[in-house]
Amino acid sequence: MKVTIIGTGYVGLVSGAVFADWGHEVVCLDIDAKKVENIKKGIMPIYEEGLEELVDKVQNKDKRFEVTTDYKGAVEHGEVIFICVGTPGNQSGAADLSYVDQAAQSIGKNIPEGDYKVVVTKSTVPVGTHNRVKENVKKGSEGKKISFDVASCPEFLREGTSIYDANNSERTVIGSNSEKALDILSGVYATLKSPIVRTDVASAELIKYAANAFLATKISFINEMSQICERTGADVVSVAKGMGLDSRIGPKFLNAGIGYGGSCFPKDVEALYRTSSENFYDFRLLRGVMDANERQKDYFFDKITSKYGANLYGLTFGVLGAAFKNGTDDTRKSVAIQIIRMLRGHGAKMKVYDPAAMDNAKRELGNEYITYVDSSDEVFKDSDALVILTEWKEFAELDYKTLLPQLKEKVVFDGRNLLDPIKMQEMDVDYYAIGRFLGK
Ligand SMILES: NC(=O)c1ccc[n+]([C@@H]2O[C@H](COP(=O)([O-])OP(=O)(O)OC[C@H]3O[C@@H](n4cnc5c(N)ncnc54)[C@H](O)[C@@H]3O)[C@@H](O)[C@H]2O)c1
Repeated sequence: MKVTIIGTGYVGLVSGAVFADWGHEVVCLDIDAKKVENIKKGIMPIYEEGLEELVDKVQNKDKRFEVTTDYKGAVEHGEVIFICVGTPGNQSGAADLSYVDQAAQSIGKNIPEGDYKVVVTKSTVPVGTHNRVKENVKKGSEGKKISFDVASCPEFLREGTSIYDANNSERTVIGSNSEKALDILSGVYATLKSPIVRTDVASAELIKYAANAFLATKISFINEMSQICERTGADVVSVAKGMGLDSRIGPKFLNAGIGYGGSCFPKDVEALYRTSSENFYDFRLLRGVMDANERQKDYFFDKITSKYGANLYGLTFGVLGAAFKNGTDDTRKSVAIQIIRMLRGHGAKMKVYDPAAMDNAKRELGNEYITYVDSSDEVFKDSDALVILTEWKEFAELDYKTLLPQLKEKVVFDGRNLLDPIKMQEMDVDYYAIGRFLGK
């Protein structure tokens, strides 16, 4: 099938490359000319395992993938056009739909008369946005006689494993109020063996928010449990294990830590809360989820200031992690970045290392009070304490016996419960974690 992707970021680029790998002829469009030029040369705008190789394959060998800034050609190409532009949260917490509006208008402007297109929103957009997309496509067409239907196909990929996720998705959700559009759209996903949830367009839009809000609720729930564990001498890792083995609950998203971050959960939970308020419903559970998440990073930070006092001037912390989670270079709304800022705000200096997110961390944080080092090992030397902020596997596997004595004092603040408290005790480390039973 001929498929067009509008917006070549995490979602658009990965989806485009995977669709081409499935045999579709894909044109990816972005308004960022530098990004487009780089992708043509094989330089990826994001770090995602296997992406560079996949784009090389579909672009240069299979020749089923093109990337462009030419809206006219891109819109003419695709029978199905996916909108994959950003929908960041705005000041009031609602989703900023201006990029979606612009993309829809550009599509409308370039749909040739006589063609039929399915315009699909893959970006995460509030329920009801399909009407707005329809209006904007019409507006862009400036009175031309065009034929199209709108649909929603929310994206569930996880950064860090997105190519695997796209090929092995547990379900695909497609929603439209047009049967014709649904039939065509399901053809894009014919390769997949997993269920396709075929529904109306509003339900499809809402499913994405419901899923993200539920996962965020799980995280906030276990983070709240970590507080109870700390106050009662229980161990949150054991509690999570005992809960998660119940198949009604499941083990995932039950790792207590410094709270959820990233480009999706914070804005999507907030946007769903806004949607419910706009519909005269006070979704109190979600308010609690957001409050718990805010509190969690403060609880962690308080552990540092409880030990050293609020004035951290003169101290240097070795910091492991800046990405919002492991497996990605993405630092958008990263709690790690927020905690680094809090440490700096209290006068601390830091040596920071992340396996993938150094460039983004430098861009977000600048150099003031921060030295960026080239390896995990280098954060330890002469630092006053170690602070772990991202759950990279390689951080769990460091040779702590050799590295910890390089700190001025063996003090570890583990924001991701990555290390074994018993081993830390055996090494005589002053160890602080989230809701762990430390036997003292
Ligand atoms: N990143 C994720 O893990 C993830 C997962 C699921 C859903 N989503 C959702 O998917 C959407 C995209 O997220 P992302 O992380 O890929 O965003 P991104 O910021 O990485 O990429 C968006 C791209 O759209 C381009 N763009 C903006 N306006 C455009 C226009 N008018 N025409 C063409 N291109 C335009 C930008 O230049 C950018 O390259 C968001 O709604 C997000 O919530 C993201």
